[in-house]
Amino acid sequence: MTEKFKAPRGTFDVLSDQQPVRERIQAVSRRRLEAAGYGHIDTPIFEDTDLFARGVGESTDIVQKQMFTFEDQGGRSLTLRPEATASVCRAYLQHGMQKLAQPVKLWMEGPFFRHERPQAGRYRQFTQVDAEAIGSESPLVDAEMILIASDIITELGVEGVRLRLGSLGTPATRAAYLEELRDYLRSREAELSDEVRGRLDVNPLRAFDAEHEGTRHVMDEAPTLLERLDEADAEHFDAVRQTLDRNGLVYELDPTLVRGLDYYTRTLFEFECERLGAQSGIGGGGRYDGLIELIGGPPTPGCGWALGVDRIALALEAQEDAAEGETAREGVFVVAEEDGREAALALVTELRRAGMTADLDLAGRATKGQMKQADRVGARYALILARDAKATLRDMDSGEEREVDPATLVETLSSP
Ligand code: HAM
Repeated sequence: MTEKFKAPRGTFDVLSDQQPVRERIQAVSRRRLEAAGYGHIDTPIFEDTDLFARGVGESTDIVQKQMFTFEDQGGRSLTLRPEATASVCRAYLQHGMQKLAQPVKLWMEGPFFRHERPQAGRYRQFTQVDAEAIGSESPLVDAEMILIASDIITELGVEGVRLRLGSLGTPATRAAYLEELRDYLRSREAELSDEVRGRLDVNPLRAFDAEHEGTRHVMDEAPTLLERLDEADAEHFDAVRQTLDRNGLVYELDPTLVRGLDYYTRTLFEFECERLGAQSGIGGGGRYDGLIELIGGPPTPGCGWALGVDRIALALEAQEDAAEGETAREGVFVVAEEDGREAALALVTELRRAGMTADLDLAGRATKGQMKQADRVGARYALILARDAKATLRDMDSGEEREVDPATLVETLSSP
């Protein structure tokens, strides 16, 4: 027998019964972003590899291990986009958007690709809704963006979400801080776990996540990057926080927050859903004031976020299971004898042209089977066509039946 194909590892099919929740996430995001003046942009699924190498950062896991990179027929190296920010910044420069009124606010959605170890909530192809505001340094931009993301998550009804907020300052502050942290850790090396000691030179920040008791004790007294921000960065961060406070947003200050992309400066945030287990990050972002310059543009500030559609869908599906919510019945299912199928199709077409949801049996079922099908597809009404051109309309919720004239069905259903 010929081998059956499956979707590649780490990818999945979205089946039709899984679409409504995803479509709602996309619709709510789109409405809220467009109401806030964000314009819709689409960029290609693949870009020059160098854009991500420079933009996302050579030292990140994404660039080092997770990119789907290939050569085209002309020998150019291309990469399936692992994230949106570098692409949106490229488009901003390519189309001269620095000449438009700033900040330029853009959003997009679509598939992204990272060669990660697949597990629940972590895929090799995943979907993001992404928003970027380019061209303003104002802390109001950071706050506004966080408020929009939070409002989307709240309107969707995701439960158990917390927002972690931090600031990274500038690359110079960060480099000086990492040196200080390394020196501090070395001064108390004997108290640290072997693992932390081994990674001290590569990534001393990891020590903040350690479970080891001795290390935890050392880290409780360690200096944090937040305490080392220079005056301008500290003021910027205070302003972001004050705006969030004024707008009633609850967040946790996280002095050790780090994210897997190199371009961040200043504000950094992450939304987590505690019900999701290990892959709990449902969205995150921050400010990237150096990115546009890194990819060949003039110094231009920017700020943005991305929401993970798949993870938000997982969270909402789990909640729906718990609540066992029933969806409302909708539309008409036309039930007809075999020789009445032509009439049924004509009627269904007429109803559809009037903007209604309508369906009929296409599998040669007996009348009883068609009634079952009407129930299964969630029809609000079943319309039973009789041979004598009469018809009975059955309310599938209450079971009530009444005679109707098929010729005036659109009017009857428009004013039931
Ligand atoms: P990120 O944190 O890498 O940020 O991704 C944002 C969200 O995408 C995550 O919180 C998560 O929900 C989802 N996500 C990421 N990787 C996967 C995966 N392998 N499987 C499923 N979901 C995933 C960025 O991508 C930045 N570009 C955000 C940004 C925009 N920063 C500034 N502007």
